[in-house]
Amino acid sequence: ATGLKGRDFLALVDYTPDEVRYLLDLGIELKRKQKAGELYQPLKGKTLGMIFEKNSTRTRVSFEVGMYQLGGHALFLSRNDLQLGRGETVWDTGQVMSRYLDGIMIRTFAHKNVVELARGATVPVINGLTDLSHPCQAMADYQTILEVKGSLEGVKLAYVGDGNNMVHSLMMGAAKLGLHIAVATPEGYEPDSEVLEMSQENAEQTGAKIEVLRDPKEAVNGADFIYTDVWASMGMEAEQEQRLQVFKNYQVNEELVKYAKPDYRFLHCLPAHRGEEVSQEIMDGSHSIVFDQAENRLHAQKAIMAAIM
Ligand code: CP
Ligand code: NVA
Repeated sequence: ATGLKGRDFLALVDYTPDEVRYLLDLGIELKRKQKAGELYQPLKGKTLGMIFEKNSTRTRVSFEVGMYQLGGHALFLSRNDLQLGRGETVWDTGQVMSRYLDGIMIRTFAHKNVVELARGATVPVINGLTDLSHPCQAMADYQTILEVKGSLEGVKLAYVGDGNNMVHSLMMGAAKLGLHIAVATPEGYEPDSEVLEMSQENAEQTGAKIEVLRDPKEAVNGADFIYTDVWASMGMEAEQEQRLQVFKNYQVNEELVKYAKPDYRFLHCLPAHRGEEVSQEIMDGSHSIVFDQAENRLHAQKAIMAAIM
């Protein structure tokens, strides 16, 4: 697609259905190249800064390795080591970093920090997870779904658990790509109503269907994919005990998966808590493709970086 160079990657809502699909297909192509040992280095001499205000295994490693494979270099920047941690503004940080770098990836708490960084920066900014969304993960997830099914048409994805950052990006991704997503959450833990509304609006363009339900069985009914995420996201550690109670009927386990298609696949963005949001049997069972998903972070993000940087 043209017109992607120089763009930020903050949220899927900012991209057209064609652009999202283009990036997915590019991720698949870059994965093929990597597996075939074909060098592809469009970012030679370029540098990505990676600001982390929260922990990370996949995001950190996949961005750093991805940047290297594309011919560039990545810097790991922890908030505590930056002047940001001592009160230098996000805007100033964006300005300064743009004088050295060709792109910035940031993982932070408040989504407005990412928006503010993008406002201050003159180079592309990539959202590596905020409390509101996790678009890079959703791209890797839809790449995984596309690889399994060969097409996204008619695919039903069930999401069971907390109405968090992950489900927000999955809903918007479904809207852009024309899938059916059925979300089941306990009362009071639904996805953000604004994100839901925007996703449903975007769904009209593609024929996607976005449902928010209460009953996990209803969401999982006839699903091709079942997705869950932690019950207490980063920053919610204090609610952990209470959430164990609230979500106890939302575990993905042998009982629940009976309602899905017989060849359903299990998805989880990881890190997972066996015995909480997913039973050990399902997490480690033959339907689980969570590590393919994790791998696809690398390929999907290489596509994003190659396209915008
Ligand atoms: N799924 C994900 O973003 O993992 P990390 O927190 O390890 O980056
Ligand atoms: N919802 C989780 C996702 C982690 C990748 C969190 O925000 O902690």
